[in-house]
Order: sequence, then C-alpha cells, then structure tokens
Amino acid sequence: MKFLSKTEADTKNFAKHIALSLKGGDILALDGELGSGKTTFTRFLAEALKVKDYVNSPTFVIMKVYKAKADKIKNLVHIDAYRLENQKDLVDIGALEYFDSPQAVTVIEWAERIKKILPPRTQYFKFEHVREGRLINYSYGKNQKTRNEPSSK
Ligand SMILES: Nc1ncnc2c1ncn2[C@@H]1O[C@H](COP(=O)(O)OP(=O)(O)OP(=O)(O)O)[C@@H](O)[C@H]1O
Ligand SMILES: [Mg+2]
Repeated sequence: MKFLSKTEADTKNFAKHIALSLKGGDILALDGELGSGKTTFTRFLAEALKVKDYVNSPTFVIMKVYKAKADKIKNLVHIDAYRLENQKDLVDIGALEYFDSPQAVTVIEWAERIKKILPPRTQYFKFEHVREGRLINYSYGKNQKTRNEPSSK
C-alpha cells in the first residue's frame, strides 16, 4: 500500500493510524534514503503510543528503549542500524529479546542491513522522496481485510 505524505502533519496522521493497529511483538522495518522521514515517522508513532520522551535519531547508540503508555504496549524499541557494523552487535545488546516481547513494539531504521535476522512477521515501510513530499510504501496490515486506508490528500 502507498501513502503520500505532503507535510509532516500528514506523516503524523499516518503514524497515528498505524499506531491504532499495533500490538505487542510487532516489528516495523523502515528503509529509504537519508532524510526520507524514518525518524519523523517514528517520533509520531511514539507520540501516538504515549511515549513521553522526545524521540530522535539513535544513530550513536544503535538502540533506545522508551516507555510507552498505550493499552497493551509498554515499550517502544527504536533501533537505527545505519552505523551497525555487525549484526551480532545487535544480538549482544539484547535486541532480539525485544522482538518477541508481547509488550514491545520495535521500529528499525535502515532495517535492510539486518534483514537476515528479521522474523517473517516483520512489516515493511519504504520511504521515498518524491516531488510532492514523501511516499511511504508499506506492507503493514496487508492481511487484515477490515483495515481502513488512511486518507491521503
Ligand atoms: N512529508 C514529510 N514527512 C516527514 N518528514 C518530512 C516531510 N516533509 C519534509 N520532511 C522533513 O524531512 C526530514 C526527514 O528527516 P528524518 O530524520 O525523519 O529522516 P530519516 O529518514 O530518519 O533520515 P536518516 O536516514 O538520516 O535517519 C525532516 O527534516 C522533516 O522535517
Ligand atoms: Mg533517522
């Protein structure tokens, strides 16, 4: 599915919409070139999951775990694989345990770099610069027939 985001506010609405259907154990893999909106999306997703802290790029720490106050989601795990040298580093810091946590949602920027260790249920979001703004190609919820499409202006 595709969502055209013309402004940050559009990305916020899109993230809110996605947040509504998230459940613990979900893994969102974000890809797309520098500045294509991955962190912005993650920040709005965090807002929708009632994370109090300001989410920025975790580039220098690889992984940050936030407290969320959504119904069944208690943690938002934000991983940035951009500077990750070895997939094993992620295993060493315990990231994989979060993947299966029934109370955590994991969002991974530059997920392509660790695609080998992503489970089959991973939902993919590909961000692209287009003339009108950002185009988000995503697979989230593609098997949920009752899902409503977010409206795009
Ligand atoms: N429609 C839009 N949605 C999201 N961000 C937008 C949009 N239009 C412009 N922007 C701007 O584009 C930039 C996106 O930066 P962001 O840090 O989210 O990208 P990123 O994909 O995480 O980059 P990086 O690969 O460096 O981590 C921000 O400065 C944001 O304000
Ligand atoms: Mg980023």
